[in-house]
Order: sequence, then C-alpha cells, then structure tokens
Amino acid sequence: MKGIILAGGLGTRLRPLTLVTNKHLLPVYDRPMIYYPIQCLVNAGIEEVLVVTGGEHAGDFLKLLKNGKHLGVRHLEYAYQEGEGGIADALKLAEEFADGGKVCVVLGDNIIEGSIRKAAADFYTQKSGAKIILKEVPDPQRFGVAAFDGDGPRARITRIIEKPKDPPSTMAVTGIYFYDADAFRVCKDLKPSGRGELEITDVNNYYLNRGDLTHETLEGWWTDAGTFESLLRAARLVADGGANHLDLGLARPPLFSAAR
Ligand code: G1P
Repeated sequence: MKGIILAGGLGTRLRPLTLVTNKHLLPVYDRPMIYYPIQCLVNAGIEEVLVVTGGEHAGDFLKLLKNGKHLGVRHLEYAYQEGEGGIADALKLAEEFADGGKVCVVLGDNIIEGSIRKAAADFYTQKSGAKIILKEVPDPQRFGVAAFDGDGPRARITRIIEKPKDPPSTMAVTGIYFYDADAFRVCKDLKPSGRGELEITDVNNYYLNRGDLTHETLEGWWTDAGTFESLLRAARLVADGGANHLDLGLARPPLFSAAR
C-alpha cells in the first residue's frame, strides 16, 4: 500500500505567514508541518509516498524533503496541482502513482499522537472500499462529521456531513483516509460543492452508500494545523506530549511496500 500526502492549497487562513511559504512547510514546534504526516505513514509501514502540492513555493518541498531517505521514505514522488480545486481534486493527481493499488491518504496539516499501523493493516486485508478514521472533538462544526444510526460501539454511520452548522455527533472525520483504486474514478465524477471545491466527504459518502466504508476511532490526540489557533495547539501538543514522529530515521520494517 502506498501513501499520499496532500499538501497544496493557499493556506489563506494563515496569512500573512503563507504569503511567503506553503502552509505545510511552516514549523510545528521543532520541525516542518509536513514531517508529521510523512512520519505517520512511515510508522505505519508505508514507505512509498507521493506529495501533492502546488503554488509558487512548491519547489521548496524538494529542498526540504529531497528523496525522503532521511525521513525513512524509500521512494518519494511529487505531483504539482494547478489551481485550488479542493482535496478530492488533488487526489486525482495520484492515480498513476497508485497504479491500481490501495492507498492511504493523509492531509498535510493533520498531526496525530499515536499510530495508524493497525488501521492500515486492517484495511490491507479489507477486500475493497474505503476506511476513515474518526476522533471525538469539541468543535465538530469545523470538520466532516459522522451521523450514526444509534449509540454505542455498534452504531453505524448513516451519513457524513461537511462542516455542519448543527452537527449530528461530535465524531469528526480526520484527514486520514484509506481507499481502493475506485476513489480516482469517484473523484473524476464529483461536482464542486458550495465552496467551489471537490470534497473528500463526497468520496467518503460514495463508499458509504455502496456499503463499503469501514471506520476506526483514533487513540491519542489528533489535530489539524490550518488556523492560527490549531497551529498553536499542534505545537503545544507536540511539545508537551510528543508525537509518533520522534523516531526519525528509525522507520519500522515495511509492511506494504511491495504489495497492493
Ligand atoms: C478537511 C475535510 C474535512 C476533514 C478535515 C480534517 O477540511 O474537508 O472533512 O474533517 O479536513 O482535517 P479542511 O480543514 O481542509 O477544510
């Protein structure tokens, strides 16, 4: 299984910082933001990675990440997104890289304390479809949110709603997704949302409607880092509690690199 990091966008919520660099190159405590999703993948045994970025600072990713070896990435590729079409638009650029296999997609501003290794292993054996990772949050209005058909651990997701004014639950859909190769066809068929973007939530709802979406709840903290508030929170969480990134260069043995 291969990994895809989506690191495009204008980062308008972090201006003026993002006038001179890409959001994902900004520091979160002691290292650039994009190190965290990379290490999230590497720690899960995924060591073939594509970084999708864009804009005028795209070249800086190459300067920083080079061939990725120093971060435990065995094979690193880059793709350039023209324009700002949203997350699902950026994902389209990964179709050739995925080469018909399963992928793990991580948004470049998502940082986790723990590991997705078990989720990745579970998805590896899932016959088809998609898997999303949920996390309880105090401010679900800011995210994609899952609605359930009941309470308790057996409750099933009935719908995912992007940034609901009136959230049906406090379970946010994190920016870590697992997809089979159908995702690329789904992305191509999407229509832009009200904010003019191709929404990853629509991709997830497609799999949900076809009865092929599994989910897990993340252990440990999770945060995005796309606003001043969340960027500061991310730095504090990393500084106080660590994150699973700290074993730089000590990548675990690969689980998924050779297989689909
Ligand atoms: C995106 C997704 C949203 C998800 C979030 C996680 O939102 O659209 O569903 O919950 O990432 O970080 P964004 O913050 O990019 O608008």
